[in-house]
Amino acid sequence: MDEEIVTLARSDADGYEIALKRRFVGGTPIDELIVNGTFAMDSAHTASEVALAEALGPTPGHVLVGGLGLGFTAKRLLEMGATNIDIVELSGPLIEWARAGLTPVLADLVADERVAIHHGDVACLLQEQPTIPGLFGPWDGICFDIDNGPDFLIHEFNDSLYTVEGIRSTLGHLTPEGRLAIWSQGPSKEFWYDLTTIDSKATEQLVAVERGNRRMDYAIYTVRNPG
Ligand SMILES: C[S@@+](CC[C@H](N)C(=O)[O-])C[C@H]1O[C@@H](n2cnc3c(N)ncnc32)[C@H](O)[C@@H]1O
Repeated sequence: MDEEIVTLARSDADGYEIALKRRFVGGTPIDELIVNGTFAMDSAHTASEVALAEALGPTPGHVLVGGLGLGFTAKRLLEMGATNIDIVELSGPLIEWARAGLTPVLADLVADERVAIHHGDVACLLQEQPTIPGLFGPWDGICFDIDNGPDFLIHEFNDSLYTVEGIRSTLGHLTPEGRLAIWSQGPSKEFWYDLTTIDSKATEQLVAVERGNRRMDYAIYTVRNPG
């Protein structure tokens, strides 16, 4: 099938490369996000980003999402009736591209009055708050899709979010019944073990996604405040 690729935007203003590309496969547009030279996601295979939102349960309430990406987790939360969504995104250029409406999903998010997009590092927000003026919890749900997961980081500085200490600190920003959902590029035995030591009711869900001849088993974890 004919394939044409155009770069919609590219920047290394934050000290790492971020790019939005659009592939036309047989004329159909597919948006792609590249972070630090690594493929992060595309708009054709979003089952795991959607599953991350759904892992919060049927009534998400007021949610914190880190980070923005192509906006599919936040889009699903809005469809599920989230009352408000605070999105924290590390990349300033990506936020500008969203505000400029470079992809249809990002344009819809920006136009939705329930959504507020904040520029910052969600690890700092949850571990050294208050780092973003006026932004604080508690939230009914927190969705993390900021990196490839605990075993394969794009940004080494995201490591602290996946430690027992980091998870406990994040849980401290939830309402008593709140839930944290975490995306990972695959199951991680060590991470799963750590989560079960925090919450015996933690869950691990695998989401299979086919990319051409390749099958990926992404993992979605949930954990709650044990009380
Ligand atoms: C894979 S994308 C998120 C995909 C998103 N779930 C979706 O549905 O489109 C990861 C995003 O997290 C952002 N990010 C990485 N580290 C971050 C951090 N520490 N704080 C906030 N955002 C971060 C990246 O710039 C990128 O936009």
